[in-house]
Amino acid sequence: MGSEPIDAVAALVAESGVGARRLRQVVARLTEPPAPSLDDLVRDFAVPRRTVEALLRAAGPDLHDGVLPASYRDRLDLDGLHRPRPAPDMAGLIAGAPVADRALDHVSATADTAARRAVWLDETFDLTGAHLVCVGDHDLTSLAVRQVNPGLRVTVVDVDDRLLEYIAARDPGIECWHADLRFGLPPVVAGSADLVFTDPPYTPEGVQLFLGRGAQALGDRANGRLVMAYGFSPLTPALGLKVQRAVLDLDLAIEAILPAFNRYHGAQAVGSASDLYVCRPTAGTWPALEKRLARTAVNIYTHGSQSLEGRTAKSPAELFGGGPTAKASRADVDLTGDPGPWLLRALLAVNAERLTLLVPNRHPDLADAAGQAALRELVAGKYALRYRRSTPDPQHAIVEASAEAGAGGAAGWLLTHAHGKIGNVLSEALVKGSGGNLTRNEARARAAGLVARPAHLDARLLDLPRPAVRQLLQTLG
Ligand SMILES: C[S@@+](CC[C@H](N)C(=O)[O-])C[C@H]1O[C@@H](n2cnc3c(N)ncnc32)[C@H](O)[C@@H]1O
Repeated sequence: MGSEPIDAVAALVAESGVGARRLRQVVARLTEPPAPSLDDLVRDFAVPRRTVEALLRAAGPDLHDGVLPASYRDRLDLDGLHRPRPAPDMAGLIAGAPVADRALDHVSATADTAARRAVWLDETFDLTGAHLVCVGDHDLTSLAVRQVNPGLRVTVVDVDDRLLEYIAARDPGIECWHADLRFGLPPVVAGSADLVFTDPPYTPEGVQLFLGRGAQALGDRANGRLVMAYGFSPLTPALGLKVQRAVLDLDLAIEAILPAFNRYHGAQAVGSASDLYVCRPTAGTWPALEKRLARTAVNIYTHGSQSLEGRTAKSPAELFGGGPTAKASRADVDLTGDPGPWLLRALLAVNAERLTLLVPNRHPDLADAAGQAALRELVAGKYALRYRRSTPDPQHAIVEASAEAGAGGAAGWLLTHAHGKIGNVLSEALVKGSGGNLTRNEARARAAGLVARPAHLDARLLDLPRPAVRQLLQTLG
């Protein structure tokens, strides 16, 4: 292995990552007599001459009268290039999905759109064995792509816990992480993707934030693509220009724009349609990316209460984006912009004797007695909660959290170490709980048995979808 021409060709193809499809088409053509000319190969498959020459050089001794043996077809799955793709059946999945939340700029794509995205992605890129990260996924593109190509690893990052629960239940093979992208990407996702898909809020800030987080998710910087749905009204091209400037401001090159590819229920101002952009990062994309995104992240939505200006008090960004905070005796946090998921994450992220959180009075966790009890129960290993509705004014409520004196055990340890990797934190808790009787390795093995999915060991408690937080804490007792 390794010295044969076929290995050298396979290595060249692999070097192109998800972008290897055209190279495989060149190789496929070379297996079919009559031998093509170099000019034809370049033109027919739109591959740079230099790349075709490199392939021909690598294949060298295996070319007989300019034709490669059939063994290349198996090795590079060349028959797979034209395999028929099942059209994913999305109507039922979309009908059962959580209802749209206008405050998060949800505008549902049609079932046909999700299906066409999936087929197009699989026909355009080499997805088998690759990793796709969906940066937001209310349209369920993740479920559609996995139906078309189950050999693809798919991860979804979204702020909407309902949606994450829905996707994880429909396809347990999809990894789901919670994040408010304004504050960062879950570290477990950073630098891992070959391909990113996103349908962001259609403001310059929203597009820049989602694409920027997508760029941070890419592991293959040389071949990785960011595929984005974005549309503007033909009546307002200046708006489109502003957004395209925001894309270029990330030093992303635009490789393709497919007009009116995506169709929506709603969004009639943009003709219920958007285009499909394919962007490539360049060397200029990475320097100072985090700083740039922190600047744009405040006001990303097109409408709704979440499109208010940013607040000045201790920001959620400090809580979720940064590392652990030292234990304070008192802490006040302004969560007046909370779309719902921040309150739990603030209770996880901040360690204080007394924590006061200001939230909207109509916060989903406070809406009824059952919701209030559920949140109380979730954090019981760390805090006792008191709810003060309509305080200090009818629009707001205050949640007072007091550290539970007797709290402890593995659940308490996890709740006070929400910034650490769950695998490490659980192991520490188990070693401590055993009075030193467990070795670190034994504790790690036991920790692995406590999480619902192995991937959770490498994530922070803050990154888990809410049902997974609940399940893990229940397991710990
Ligand atoms: C912005 S919406 C765009 C419209 C899209 N067609 C849809 O309905 O999904 C896309 C996804 O981004 C998610 N999203 C919105 N704001 C977010 C935020 N701050 N952080 C992470 N995900 C967010 C939404 O929950 C949704 O799943």
